[in-house]
Amino acid sequence: MNLIHMASKIKPKYKNKVFGASCLFYIRLTEKFSIKLYGNKQERDEILYKQRVAHVCGIAPQSLCKVKVKKYYGYITEHADTKTGLTLGQLDELLYKMHKLGFCTGDLGAYWNSGLINGKPVCIDFDSASVGSGNTKKLKLRKKNGSKSGSKSSSNRS
Ligand SMILES: Nc1ncnc2c1ncn2[C@@H]1O[C@H](COP(=O)(O)OP(=O)(O)O)[C@@H](O)[C@H]1O
Ligand SMILES: [Mg+2]
Repeated sequence: MNLIHMASKIKPKYKNKVFGASCLFYIRLTEKFSIKLYGNKQERDEILYKQRVAHVCGIAPQSLCKVKVKKYYGYITEHADTKTGLTLGQLDELLYKMHKLGFCTGDLGAYWNSGLINGKPVCIDFDSASVGSGNTKKLKLRKKNGSKSGSKSSSNRS
């Protein structure tokens, strides 16, 4: 069974609900991948776009395709270890790179909206309340001009 098929089978249940600012459900599909669900398509699209920009820069989990599950809009994301916590050095490194990209980091801490993937610090939460809109205008322009440096949706599923 592939990830898309697994995603189509999930049932968002109250026990999987996360009580954050915008992500309604975070559900593990496999050891490496999970699904994040939002109540609003535009919100999901903006969050996914920022995660992709940050992933290209090495500070966010990889994201795969968009999905629609019942009335929710989501996407498949790489899972990060959020339990271990970042060292101060790792947090500093992450904050520095986030600032360079134009993101706000007021809601980012060693155990908060961050995680580790293969020992590297990543930001896991790209809603505008957490990171602002980011300095992604330039990347958007490059994308419009046909360069590959922006992120590209891998699917038109939703
Ligand atoms: N890529 C990820 N890896 C591991 N856990 C995650 C990931 N994305 C989200 N989560 C879990 O889901 C919770 C809510 O996700 P988050 O993106 O922070 O949403 P919100 O904007 O609602 O705070 C996080 O606190 C974390 O426990
Ligand atoms: Mg959060």
